[in-house]
Amino acid sequence: MSILVTGGAGYIGSHICVELLEAGYDVVVVDNLSNSSEKALERVEEITGKKTKFYNADIRDKSAMNYIFENEEIEAVMHLAGLKAVGESVSKPLEYYDNNISGTLSLCYAMRKHGVKDIIFSSSATVYGEPKQMPITEETEKGICTNPYGWTKWMIEEILIDLHTSDNSWNVVILRYFNPVGAHKSGKIGEDPKGIPNNLTPYITQVAIGKLEKLGVFGDDYDTHDGTGVRDYIHVVDLAKGHVSALNKLQEKEGVSVYNLGTGVGYSVLDVLKGFEKATGKEIPYEVKPRRVGDIAMSYCEATKAKEEMGWEAQKGIDEMCEDSWRWQQANPEGYDTEK
Ligand code: NAD
Ligand code: UD1
Repeated sequence: MSILVTGGAGYIGSHICVELLEAGYDVVVVDNLSNSSEKALERVEEITGKKTKFYNADIRDKSAMNYIFENEEIEAVMHLAGLKAVGESVSKPLEYYDNNISGTLSLCYAMRKHGVKDIIFSSSATVYGEPKQMPITEETEKGICTNPYGWTKWMIEEILIDLHTSDNSWNVVILRYFNPVGAHKSGKIGEDPKGIPNNLTPYITQVAIGKLEKLGVFGDDYDTHDGTGVRDYIHVVDLAKGHVSALNKLQEKEGVSVYNLGTGVGYSVLDVLKGFEKATGKEIPYEVKPRRVGDIAMSYCEATKAKEEMGWEAQKGIDEMCEDSWRWQQANPEGYDTEK
């Protein structure tokens, strides 16, 4: 029996493949490589000494999905495939709703047809909108999203809950990630953004390596300890291990469960910058810019539910996140294209 990882060649998916293979699972990956490289899966093999079975296919392609379920013995699905660039989703809403939502529907049709009804879904803290309380717990109400990307996560959660309501043999674990950062210790897999990064940590590492001139800090007048935005950064390897724990939870067949995956600790933009200065031994130039539209002052979770119910908690702190991102960036200055 295998675990199907949709989007398994991507940043988080490749780290999940490593953890699954190391925990003894067989892994099947479906990815259309729209935002990733097959090299990530070669690197997964270098790290683990084990192969994943790879299908280069779009999850919206129903016949391709049926083919995979007919030819593989899938016991559960980790569903990561999706488009994730917030700004791009504002300019391309149809593409985002089509890819993320139609993709999920097509996946679920194939799962239902083949009697596979256990799914772990990659959701995001973005579903809380402007959070009604801090720290954010799983009971915090979902909010109003500020962009189509966020709404796709919000809606897919509801679709999966409705599916369970219609047929309670479905088991769904919704994982709401906070801010995944870092890379595998080996420096072989990591985040490989296309073009200029939108997110904080890849932007900083590209400044540190000299590809970008300086970091723009989006606002220093928030109501936080130093005025810059505060987030709950979580090491991607901890996040990946959270998925293995969620798989055990899924086997308890409890219907729908929701977990926040974060550390419970908030760091500001300037805290992260200092963490990278320590890891790189370099001064990282920055300038304060206006607030970014749609940003909130603070977002961090109460990380207790996942610990109590899944026995999972994040182990790695900010220093390790910065050191590991930097090792990946240095070893792969052009991401997976470095060797070309
Ligand atoms: P990523 O872009 O690196 O990985 C997503 C993968 O899905 C890519 O390899 C891409 O090629 C693939 N994909 C996209 N559409 C597809 C389709 N229609 N068919 C097949 N494959 C498709 O992104 P990531 O950072 O690894 O994120 C993985 C998941 O976690 C996404 O669903 C994302 O929304 C979610 N998430 C990410 C973050 C984050 O900060 N990285 C935060 C919260 C949630
Ligand atoms: C963003 C998305 C969120 C998504 C998450 C993961 C927005 C508004 N939110 O979260 O929906 O789930 O990525 O992909 O885009 N910052 C700077 N300068 C930069 C980049 C970021 O100061 O060049 C600051 C931001 O203002 C924020 C913090 O760094 O305070 C983190 O930003 P980022 O890494 O983009 O993540 P989020 O905005 O939290």
